[in-house]
Amino acid sequence: MSIGRLDQRVAIVTGGARGIGLAVAKILCEFGATSVIADINYDQGLKSSEKLNEKGYATSAVKLDVSSPESISENIELIYEKYGRIDILVNNAGILDSTSIPELTVEAWDHLLDIDLRGVHLCSQAVLPYMKKSDCGRIINLSSQAGQLGGWKAGVNYSAAKGGVLALTKAYARYAAKFGITVNAVSPGFILTDMTASRSDETTGIPLGRLGTAEDVANSVYFLASDLSSYITGFTIDVNGGYFIH
Ligand SMILES: NC(=O)c1ccc[n+]([C@@H]2O[C@H](COP(=O)([O-])OP(=O)(O)OC[C@H]3O[C@@H](n4cnc5c(N)ncnc54)[C@H](O)[C@@H]3O)[C@@H](O)[C@H]2O)c1
Repeated sequence: MSIGRLDQRVAIVTGGARGIGLAVAKILCEFGATSVIADINYDQGLKSSEKLNEKGYATSAVKLDVSSPESISENIELIYEKYGRIDILVNNAGILDSTSIPELTVEAWDHLLDIDLRGVHLCSQAVLPYMKKSDCGRIINLSSQAGQLGGWKAGVNYSAAKGGVLALTKAYARYAAKFGITVNAVSPGFILTDMTASRSDETTGIPLGRLGTAEDVANSVYFLASDLSSYITGFTIDVNGGYFIH
């Protein structure tokens, strides 16, 4: 198999029904993988999966809520039973909250952290026993520029969760290396998706002079999912048009 191909590999993309996750599911299929769209919005996930299947790609959809330990373990087990392997996990599911610090409730803090941070841990923990059997295990986590800089418009819960994802990525990378599994993160800047549609004209301060696309992010996720990056672990790729250079 030529380097960069993902034939026979099975990928799970959480939050893959739309936006960045859908672009990730698509590019992994383009390089030969089977993509399982694991989204809380099952109807949208199924529609997206059917559209990809019409193009000749191998995909399926499951209803998975990353904030629910039961939903995660049931679905991961079912996916493994169906396909006999899990090689790639893309922890992409996430929600945004822009509530200001004085108004932020405990419930809103917990709700976001359960999805954007705890969900990344629980999905990674759940796939590890299966991924250990693969000789090309890959976990890729979606962080955010807000997790590196502290978001100006994103809530403190979002910034904290996404900063946590960066630390979690490093800790998982150390643990999983002995199984030949790499764990890396992608940190997008301002990417135009449904999540950010209301702020689509904010290009100020972006050296490359445009907002990012879901495909810009998916390209980096693909690189980290492929053998092209097999000696890289615990790393974060910034996809931000040069907004944050460090
Ligand atoms: N768009 C941006 O500018 C941007 C910037 C930095 C980071 N990110 C991160 O990239 C990821 C994808 O963002 P996007 O812009 O494509 O978002 P989006 O809102 O377009 O898509 C998110 C997907 O996650 C799913 N989802 C939400 N809660 C879920 C849950 N509990 N379980 C399973 N699925 C769930 C949604 O149904 C949706 O399909 C997120 O983690 C986000 O924080 C986005």
